[in-house]
Amino acid sequence: MSALLNLEQVDAFYGSAHILHRLSLTVQPGERVALIGRNGVGKTTVVNTILGLASLRGGRIRLGARELPRPRPYLAAQNGVVVVPQGRRIVANLTVEENLLLGAANGRKGPWTVPEIYRLFPILQERAHTPGTALSGGQQQMLAVGRALMANPSLILLDEPTEGLAPVIVDQLGQIFNAVADQGTALLLIEQNMSLVVRVAERYCAMAKGSVVAQGRVENSPAGLRDLEAHVMV
Ligand SMILES: Nc1ncnc2c1ncn2[C@@H]1O[C@H](COP(=O)(O)OP(=O)(O)OP(=O)(O)O)[C@@H](O)[C@H]1O
Ligand SMILES: [Mg+2]
Repeated sequence: MSALLNLEQVDAFYGSAHILHRLSLTVQPGERVALIGRNGVGKTTVVNTILGLASLRGGRIRLGARELPRPRPYLAAQNGVVVVPQGRRIVANLTVEENLLLGAANGRKGPWTVPEIYRLFPILQERAHTPGTALSGGQQQMLAVGRALMANPSLILLDEPTEGLAPVIVDQLGQIFNAVADQGTALLLIEQNMSLVVRVAERYCAMAKGSVVAQGRVENSPAGLRDLEAHVMV
């Protein structure tokens, strides 16, 4: 079976700024991978390059069997890859339910429907007809995850989903990510909170200066946590 996501020696730019340097990264079906690294190393740029928001000028991106010489957000969704963006980007003048429906727009048919999302996140059903941005930060993150699931992806890219959230909410989200992965959806979790990474991911890729500089298995133990933290220490 081909990888869900395969970046091979990718070079990416914003204008003339060269951000990703021969970056290679693979996610297999059902895998839970963490992408870690300090602020500014290029983690979001990896996501942006897959969506075509940063320009791909070297190397290859493949989603399943399909090569994307000119990536676009709808091409990613059609090929089973969706993004929960950094900062969540809930649409302010749409209700919770309308935000969810938006997620299905470029997506695929599959098991995830509005009732299924409400089963996973009962709070979203309670707030179905309120504006998405009236939710708390943690609830908005659930909405962003629900919206991504509505596209019935085989891989979800989560860009710092717990940034700015209280520890109890981070724990809840960790359980939700595991529940989603247990149903067969692969995860690429971009995260600065290594105690969440050890609870969710089975493999990590560590970035520095626009490249993947280390990778390995994640071990859910104090030693495993220390190994990961070494990659994000200033
Ligand atoms: N639109 C842009 N135009 C030019 N440079 C940018 C743009 N967006 C980001 N950069 C630069 O690209 C580099 C990588 O940024 P990126 O956002 O990918 O880092 P990151 O690893 O996601 O950081 P963080 O952990 O803070 O989210 C940084 O030096 C940043 O200043
Ligand atoms: Mg980022």
